[in-house]
Amino acid sequence: MKQTYFELIGQENLWQLIADFYEEIKKDDVLRPMYPKALEPAQERLFLFMMQYLGGPNIYSENRGHPRLRMRHVRFPIDQEARDRWFRNMTVALDKNAMPEQGKEFLRRYFSDTATFLKNK
Ligand code: HEM
Repeated sequence: MKQTYFELIGQENLWQLIADFYEEIKKDDVLRPMYPKALEPAQERLFLFMMQYLGGPNIYSENRGHPRLRMRHVRFPIDQEARDRWFRNMTVALDKNAMPEQGKEFLRRYFSDTATFLKNK
């Protein structure tokens, strides 16, 4: 059977990635104000979304329904700078992650493309 990216990356590494990403968000003076005061629930949503996207359990959609990422981002002003900051924060988190290089390569491309797709300004 073909291995999923979720299996390749591993749940612990994925959790760590999203936790490290939110540590960067905390320091980001452009993006931090867009996020809710309590970051933990947002962190959990992104983790569950990525787990599902990578072929793991579908807990995200059981809780939140269809992702509709573009629709869920229209209320945040995502211009080129916001897009670049989001991606840079994720790159910092990826660079220090323990997952296999193949997982990092896959995620860099996915995050770059998706962040561009979510631009709405
Ligand atoms: C391009 C820059 C981006 C900005 C400024 C941004 C900002 C935000 C903000 C402020 C939230 C609300 C936090 C919450 O309460 O959940 C959010 C939610 C979310 N974002 Fe982004 N985001 C960006 C890109 C991305 C990308 C690239 C992905 C996926 C790879 C993503 C996936 C999600 C998900 C899954 C949620 C939770 C949706 C829900 O269930 O309500 N975002 N984003």
